[in-house]
Amino acid sequence: MKRLVPIMAVFAAVGFSHETLTTTVLFDREIVRILDKHCVMCHVENGPSFPLATYEQTWLKKREIRAAAIARHMPPWAAVPGYGQFMNENSLTLRETQFIVSWVEGLGPRNAGTVFTNTATPGAARPKEVQAHADFGIWQLGQPQLTRQLAANTIEPKTDEVKRTVIDLGLTSERRLRALEFMPGDRRVIRAAFFTLQETGQWIGSWTPWYGYMRLPKGTAYRLPAGSHILAEIHYRGTKERVVDRGTLGLFFADQPTPDLVSDVIVEAKTRLAADTYVVALKPEIPPGVKSVEVSARKPDGTTEILLFAKDIPVDWPTPYILKEPAALPRGTVLTATGGVRVTVSTYRARK
Ligand code: HEC
Repeated sequence: MKRLVPIMAVFAAVGFSHETLTTTVLFDREIVRILDKHCVMCHVENGPSFPLATYEQTWLKKREIRAAAIARHMPPWAAVPGYGQFMNENSLTLRETQFIVSWVEGLGPRNAGTVFTNTATPGAARPKEVQAHADFGIWQLGQPQLTRQLAANTIEPKTDEVKRTVIDLGLTSERRLRALEFMPGDRRVIRAAFFTLQETGQWIGSWTPWYGYMRLPKGTAYRLPAGSHILAEIHYRGTKERVVDRGTLGLFFADQPTPDLVSDVIVEAKTRLAADTYVVALKPEIPPGVKSVEVSARKPDGTTEILLFAKDIPVDWPTPYILKEPAALPRGTVLTATGGVRVTVSTYRARK
């Protein structure tokens, strides 16, 4: 029996020298999927940050990736899970975070070794390298019915700027808008874009690197009066060189003759709803120094629903919060926003 101890020590040493075996998570399988879904819209050649597409690029950054994922610093998304569900949410699930941690701690295996054995046969086709990739330059919602190119903006190196551009839609009659999509000119410099109707100030859509459009729930629309102009507010961060950005806006009109019209409710501190209302989306304006916000709805029956709870809000990634399902709030509900944050809420009224 005494001999057992040294034998076990040998096995332990062997196991230790094959550390890649401590994880079943592979770059070509789980990690590429996470990069596709949550990272390559920014971590790409000609994007705002270093590329994370190939195995080598990702492997070299793996310690930073693990740290950023655990700290919830990357991807940028501040809404706390469990309070409202959002269409444009871009945080890692617990499972995805665990995959990243396991892969990094298992020394980042690529694909269970097949890549090394397949190169040996001369003349044989090499297997296609698995990489993360993003499809830019296509309309996510299909071909828009109306497109308008924006005026060009020049972004000086290493400057943060918000630029405003007016777009004349050239509408000779009133239209109903059901969706809006934006295609930026140069993804290296643009962080976010918000679109409002110049005549009324109504918010009608946004763009962030991970969610490039606003699509209203079925049967609802924004009203665009004849002669409407859209005001684009674009948030830029300059890169190493001067960049000229010229984006394109795509509009999609409602075919239904009488959709429910979407309008804004502005919440500053407290606002009481005068009618039965559905909430579609929220756009908080975070003042400098404010790190978190809670938007809650106290209903006449005394119950409270948290519409949004966001904390450690990254100032350089302004984003709206688009609800997965419109939230139904009865007349008399009081909406409250904390921290002096002004929140634009897109709503429509319940039909009688
Ligand atoms: C919305 C754009 C965006 C998305 C999405 C995004 N990143 Fe980043 N990331 C950046 C930018 C820009 C930087 C450069 C530093 C900065 O500005 O914060 C960065 C920095 C990093 C860093 C450097 C260390 C740090 O924490 O700053 C790591 C690692 C990283 N990102 C990993 C990821 C991973 C992994 C994902 C996906 C799971 C991801 N990022 C998603 C834009 C993004």
